[in-house]
Amino acid sequence: MSPFLSADPPQFPFVALLVSGGHTQLMRVDGVGRYELLGETIDDAAGEAFDKSAKLMGLGYPGGPALAALAESGDPQAYALPRPLLHSGNLDFSFAGLKTAVLVQSQKMVASQGEVAWNGSASGVKLASGATPGFENLPLSMRADLAASTQAAIADVLVKKSMTALKVTGLKRLVVAGGVGANTSLRSQLNAACGQRGVRVHYPELHLCTDNGAMIAMAAAMRLQSGLQAARRDYAFDVKPRWPLQAI
Ligand SMILES: Nc1ncnc2c1ncn2[C@@H]1O[C@H](COP(=O)(O)OP(=O)(O)OP(=O)(O)O)[C@@H](O)[C@H]1O
Ligand SMILES: [Mg+2]
Repeated sequence: MSPFLSADPPQFPFVALLVSGGHTQLMRVDGVGRYELLGETIDDAAGEAFDKSAKLMGLGYPGGPALAALAESGDPQAYALPRPLLHSGNLDFSFAGLKTAVLVQSQKMVASQGEVAWNGSASGVKLASGATPGFENLPLSMRADLAASTQAAIADVLVKKSMTALKVTGLKRLVVAGGVGANTSLRSQLNAACGQRGVRVHYPELHLCTDNGAMIAMAAAMRLQSGLQAARRDYAFDVKPRWPLQAI
């Protein structure tokens, strides 16, 4: 619902791409509380892929913004990283293998530079911090290339699957939500792909991409307004830490 807080809110129906720290889902959204799951990740979420890869590169948490910043001066085609499930024929995602590929690539880069992997741990073994030993000592251009290649692998899959979701639903509107939606490289690729197909794409304002109270209030307001939810004078409610969108 966070894109509804923008000056140019979307109209129903649309395809929603939810890319956060815990979720990667494509949904068909026909109205308030009317969600159909089209596909989702079978393992890590897109945000997790950013965070885990960033950790291997010795970047802080949350890793997404840090990895995106490092990627700015890098070549997204420098390293061929996997695009899991890209041709799976469905709308599911998988990002766990990418993290392993980034780990292996980072170790190869350290070895190729003759960097000493001994950093208090055995050669090739990850430090407790999770960073690949020696990676932080590599030239900035190499580190930026791996960050850019990682970002490109994640964005590529998200863009292609979103385009497939638009094609199978026949919808001409895409709404992006969740922290990874703040990624400028993902945004520019989605803008280009949607532009080619005559699809309108909506994003939350940058400061409303990650978890925030305004989107929760907006979701509640829209449910009240649509009559889906009756206002309760006592403001009592049950806490549901896991509430599948389709069950709302
Ligand atoms: N510019 C960016 N590029 C890539 N990833 C980003 C960027 N900014 C934030 N992220 C990622 O967004 C995620 C956080 O988003 P969000 O707050 O929506 O998730 P969450 O609330 O933790 O997950 P969920 O709601 O699914 O439980 C983190 O994984 C973070 O690395
Ligand atoms: Mg959240």
